[in-house]
Amino acid sequence: MPLAIEVNGLRKAYNGAEVVKGIDLQVKKGELLALLGPNGAGKTTIVSMLSTLIKPDGGTALVAGYDAAAQAHEVRRNISLTGQFAALDEGLTGHQNIVMIARLYGYSSKNASVLADELIASFGLSDAKDRIVQTYSGGMRRRLDIIASVINQPEIIFLDEPTTGLDLQSRMQVWDVVRTLLKRGTTVLLTTQYLEEADQLADRIVIIDKGSIVAEGTPTQLKASTGGKTLSIQLQHQVNAIDIERLLASQHLTLLQNTDPLLLKIPVTEARCANQIIQLLLENDTPISHFSLSDPSMDEVFLTLLQSSSKEVVL
Ligand SMILES: Nc1ncnc2c1ncn2[C@@H]1O[C@H](COP(=O)(O)OP(=O)(O)OP(=O)(O)O)[C@@H](O)[C@H]1O
Ligand SMILES: [Mg+2]
Repeated sequence: MPLAIEVNGLRKAYNGAEVVKGIDLQVKKGELLALLGPNGAGKTTIVSMLSTLIKPDGGTALVAGYDAAAQAHEVRRNISLTGQFAALDEGLTGHQNIVMIARLYGYSSKNASVLADELIASFGLSDAKDRIVQTYSGGMRRRLDIIASVINQPEIIFLDEPTTGLDLQSRMQVWDVVRTLLKRGTTVLLTTQYLEEADQLADRIVIIDKGSIVAEGTPTQLKASTGGKTLSIQLQHQVNAIDIERLLASQHLTLLQNTDPLLLKIPVTEARCANQIIQLLLENDTPISHFSLSDPSMDEVFLTLLQSSSKEVVL
């Protein structure tokens, strides 16, 4: 399948500090690639270079077949960028906003109105189209913003953290809009801090941290890459986490950071290890209430990979 985006050795430094450290990416046509990473990982910097807003210091980025640095104009004709803050006119209705943008792209007012109706209906926002945007929820604005970004029929859409700050219901509505984009054959590069979002939408996920790729693969591959299972141990009462960490470290095991002091989560390679860990903890008087072994969630995968990010894991 031909590539929509091909990035080799992309670099960017600010004030001498490298924030994107030689990234390679490939996105196939019609695919959704999620760039997943914590605050400051370099996601927006990468998207800004690919969407021609800033120039790379090194490496190459081909977007829709054009060089993002040398052929910015051609790249811009083929892409759309939707950021965290929607560029909508609050005083206009949803329909009027889409019409206005379509007019900017040269549509006649009649054609712009027909197009706006069509797009709003296909992205499921018809009920709200005649309300002014000021009355929209955060999720509705984000959906309208994405609808606005398809007016020029871009081959590739960059969605930079489209659901950050939204509640779960609004996020799910934005996901539906993204799924509609994919059904229309658009290639999507989405950045997110939400594991679940990447898991739900992505064909492939690239996890980045501190400007480098930590891991990449399909959601299924990533879940398998951490060793397969998560052992969850519920404690009767709180214990010194440092003692537990030391005990586990002696067996080359790590404790996943989590906010519940009564819950220990340990990635394990095979079910057999779980028995040994429970035995070891009991021998050391750990007050275990109960335990279970399950497939890791994307959150656990992410934490496992970031905690071992000194070693690069590439599938
Ligand atoms: N214009 C700039 N000048 C100086 N430093 C910058 C600039 N833009 C970004 N940085 C730094 O580059 C690093 C990567 O930032 P970037 O915005 O790409 O991260 P991000 O992954 O998008 O984070 P977030 O999830 O918070 O949006 C950060 O350390 C940031 O402070
Ligand atoms: Mg960002």
